[in-house]
Amino acid sequence: MADRYLSFTGTAPGRFLTRRLGLPQPAQLVRWSAERPRLEGGLLHLAAGKPDPNLAPVLARTGLRTGTGAEDSPVAVVLDATGVRDVESLGEVHAALHPVVRSVAASGRVVVLGAPLDPADHHQAAAQQALEGFTRSLGKEIGRGRTVNLVRLADGEAAESTLRFLLSPRSAYVSGQVIEVGAGAFAVPDDWERPLAGRTALVTGAARGIGAAVAETLTRDGARVVVLDVPAAEADARALAERLGGSALALDITAADAGARIADALPEGLDILVHNAGITRDRRLVNMPAERWSSVLDVNLGSVLRTTDALLERGVMKTGGRIVATASIAGIAGNAGQTNYGAGKAGIVGLVRGLAPRAAGEYGVTVNAVAPGFVETKMTAAIPLVIREAGRRMNSLAQGGVPGDVAEVTAWLVQGGSGAVNGQVVRVCGQSLLGA
Ligand SMILES: NC(=O)c1ccc[n+]([C@@H]2O[C@H](COP(=O)([O-])OP(=O)(O)OC[C@H]3O[C@@H](n4cnc5c(N)ncnc54)[C@H](O)[C@@H]3O)[C@@H](O)[C@H]2O)c1
Repeated sequence: MADRYLSFTGTAPGRFLTRRLGLPQPAQLVRWSAERPRLEGGLLHLAAGKPDPNLAPVLARTGLRTGTGAEDSPVAVVLDATGVRDVESLGEVHAALHPVVRSVAASGRVVVLGAPLDPADHHQAAAQQALEGFTRSLGKEIGRGRTVNLVRLADGEAAESTLRFLLSPRSAYVSGQVIEVGAGAFAVPDDWERPLAGRTALVTGAARGIGAAVAETLTRDGARVVVLDVPAAEADARALAERLGGSALALDITAADAGARIADALPEGLDILVHNAGITRDRRLVNMPAERWSSVLDVNLGSVLRTTDALLERGVMKTGGRIVATASIAGIAGNAGQTNYGAGKAGIVGLVRGLAPRAAGEYGVTVNAVAPGFVETKMTAAIPLVIREAGRRMNSLAQGGVPGDVAEVTAWLVQGGSGAVNGQVVRVCGQSLLGA
């Protein structure tokens, strides 16, 4: 659905009027396109505390201009704060960013790099945790479509896919996030432009909305995609699959034999499983019949657990495989009228946290979640106008996301190079003020 307010504030009279009235000032975000696949401008690499010498070569490979001249109007600033161990060295965070933050280009990026919290040193843990509050606060004040994220990393090489993602137009609607990159096995792709070449992906609920965008983006990145949706949406699923050179599978994901039917359709196995299908049946708890409760929990959580178990246990998911499930900010912050939906989506967060370490150890598979905020789809077009407008603006970027924003996050998580990103719940919400 068109965001007319965003179009209006992009005009000179719109800017003038909204500024005078103190209204939100959303910026036109720079998103990935074939014509503009990279951010254009310099990358400023700064440090607070002792710098990590292994980061410079990784940053140099992002394709952004580094070194002399990058400081003129950087489109990205990376602050290496991995060496921050105490309150004194936190002062260096201020000293590094205070002079440059104003000069970061519109739709630019600030990425803060932190270290895992040291259980043997509570001063280091305090200083590193401080980076989280710093990142989230700067994200709320920086404006002009610029984003601020924190990556906690143990090893720069393992974080390359994450840094490439955050320092690109693909992460336009991701801000205020804390992403942990652990020590899991990862595979550097032959071609960073087509990192999913040779891989098979299945996306549930992919006939329309976010799922269709995920199918398109995974295809762009080289995957062969199976478009799964309910039999009633089969014509749309087939049309999309044909356009993408993939295949369609008409199946209600809540069917008792859904896992077996997916396994039958994929005799060669599966590399990437994206649980995207989801429904809402909103009512306040006092007015909610049991059927509304159980149908939402079954589609949004029960079927995700059942099919995940079936595909792991039958060996359908290949070693090096990737599972991405779809949570929601409603599962993190809660939402009036959505006790069923909020419960199901919070359950996804629990599933990811509980299964991720075990799936990596037993199957060599990572398990992560995307948690969309307000995304412009048929689901959100059905929300009453005033609530819809509030949902759209109540985030640091003052606008809704588009389905492609969630698709880009998914495409990063499922890369071979993202093997050290496991058990993460990444919000795609423009730093929603709800549950932030
Ligand atoms: N749009 C948003 O703002 C938003 C925000 C947070 C989370 N989400 C989540 O993102 C996912 C996609 O949302 P969307 O906005 O694209 O929704 P949508 O309603 O546009 O699309 C959902 C798709 O899932 C399919 N589906 C529903 N039940 C199914 C079943 N039992 N088996 C197979 N397919 C089924 C539908 O037919 C539809 O094609 C959902 O999990 C949703 O909860 C969306």
